[in-house]
Amino acid sequence: MKKYLVIGNPISHSLSPELHNHWIKQHGLNALYEKKKLNGNELEKLISDIKTGNINGVNVTVPFKNAIIPYLDGLSNDAKNTQSVNTIYLKDKKVIGHNTDIDGFENAIKKINFDFKNKKVFILGAGGVVPSIIYASIKMESSEIIISNRTKEKSEQVKKLFDKIKLIDWGEVPNFDVIINATSLGLNPEDKINLDFTNTGKNKLFYDVIYNPTETHFLKMAKKLGNKNENGRLMFVYQAFSAFKLWHGVEPTINNDTLKLLDQ
Ligand code: ATR
Repeated sequence: MKKYLVIGNPISHSLSPELHNHWIKQHGLNALYEKKKLNGNELEKLISDIKTGNINGVNVTVPFKNAIIPYLDGLSNDAKNTQSVNTIYLKDKKVIGHNTDIDGFENAIKKINFDFKNKKVFILGAGGVVPSIIYASIKMESSEIIISNRTKEKSEQVKKLFDKIKLIDWGEVPNFDVIINATSLGLNPEDKINLDFTNTGKNKLFYDVIYNPTETHFLKMAKKLGNKNENGRLMFVYQAFSAFKLWHGVEPTINNDTLKLLDQ
């Protein structure tokens, strides 16, 4: 039986096993997908388990998307450009890191028929998923990307990868067409983002990477102010879709049953 894992710390909240095992069953594959909490000092052993075939593929989440890179034999272009790996596979005896968060975000935006072309994109946060969102926004031809993070040093690190992005202080709200919450604020239903959007106008896209809870305070407030809003559910499903296709060579189905798996 083939064995797949999602690793992170914490990991208990991850719904990747529900999604992948649903598709594994649907396609009659002899495989199992589990979640595993790891510490940084266990990454090397994990990679050697992939090399020996004990593990056939791994998804990587917070806080290891960048930290895993030194242990890998190679990176796809998407992983290289973002210095972020969320999917690992073995090819010609080499352990390769890839990034399906980029496709995940791009496909989610396409699915809701929103066009990023010539749009001003404002991103809150500078954590693990932000380089992928920036890269996808560049691919979709946005005109400007502005980042705001509580800890400025972290957004400065991101700017080293993407020279053209603009950094502003946490608390400032610039003019924008799309705002993306990529912070962890909202994971607790009581969390509020302390920014004032009453003067930003209507009909912007408010996007939250968080999908559980399904409607964060950020999205509720966006709706109340007359904006479009979307949570991170489709991005999550599409990043898993691309990883599944890469590992198993088949495209899994995405329908209401798939999305229902994430309503927990
Ligand atoms: P990591 O920082 O380990 O990559 P992450 O979940 O990918 O983890 O990112 C968490 C993001 O949420 C960070 O941008 C973090 O800001 P800091 O870099 O300042 O820590 C942001 N964040 C978390 N709690 C926050 C809070 N109370 N106010 C503002 N931003 C917060």
